[in-house]
Amino acid sequence: MSKRGGSGSEPGRSFRVVWLAEVDSTNRYVLDAAHSGEREGLVVVADHQSAGRGRLGRTWEAASGSSLLLSVLLRPRRAVDELHLCTAAVALAMADAVRDVAGFTPALKWPNDLLAGGHKLAGVLAEADLGASGVVRSVVVGVGINVSEQAIPPELTSTATACNVVAGRSIDRRSLFDAFLLRLDEHLDTADPVLLADYRARLATIGARVRVERSAGPLEGVAVDIDELGALLLETETGDTVTISAGDVVHLRPV
Ligand code: BTN
Repeated sequence: MSKRGGSGSEPGRSFRVVWLAEVDSTNRYVLDAAHSGEREGLVVVADHQSAGRGRLGRTWEAASGSSLLLSVLLRPRRAVDELHLCTAAVALAMADAVRDVAGFTPALKWPNDLLAGGHKLAGVLAEADLGASGVVRSVVVGVGINVSEQAIPPELTSTATACNVVAGRSIDRRSLFDAFLLRLDEHLDTADPVLLADYRARLATIGARVRVERSAGPLEGVAVDIDELGALLLETETGDTVTISAGDVVHLRPV
């Protein structure tokens, strides 16, 4: 695979896969490899993580062999405020892989969750290594997707789902992974405006009444769009439009 990267990646990207039985966190593993000078394209997959990381400092837990847990090392020629395009490419690639292998198409919830029937199917966590002047040295994008229902911790059964539940049959992790890499290669080579349009089109958050859990407190409104930087534009009851760069979104109902 050696196409010129539309999303700012080095030309000549090729994926090198390391599949581990167990690791603390695939994101941690790949970040360490990036610090040691590893090239773009390392992909680490684990059957089990003992200290999986979620967004906003949370943990990510799943029974061994029940999920596809992976991290990809990218070295995009991008400014830090363009990194949302890398996470969008990964989320879109996984959504496409699910469509290809499991036969249903997950929607996206801002910023990068995959949803099926309104329930969480997968989460995406990007962690960047920035140089002194804010230059992006590398970004590690991790995905955890519930392949079978054993992936779902008991406290999340009412809000999460798994590929086999939605598809009505068991889904092979290796097939899903192979499809993901093919789709990722395509999305990383997609021109930015097209990638952003694809992401926007699949974002179920747009048009929904939502509650945003922010460090500054919750805020409700209608999610009207995303901006060029991937931030969510929320129209509140007072008619103001608030730009949300980070936070957790709860879909209340479609408008
Ligand atoms: C979220 O909070 O929704 C994001 C979860 C991301 C979990 C994945 S599992 C593989 C990779 N390694 C980690 O430690 N986290 C990500």
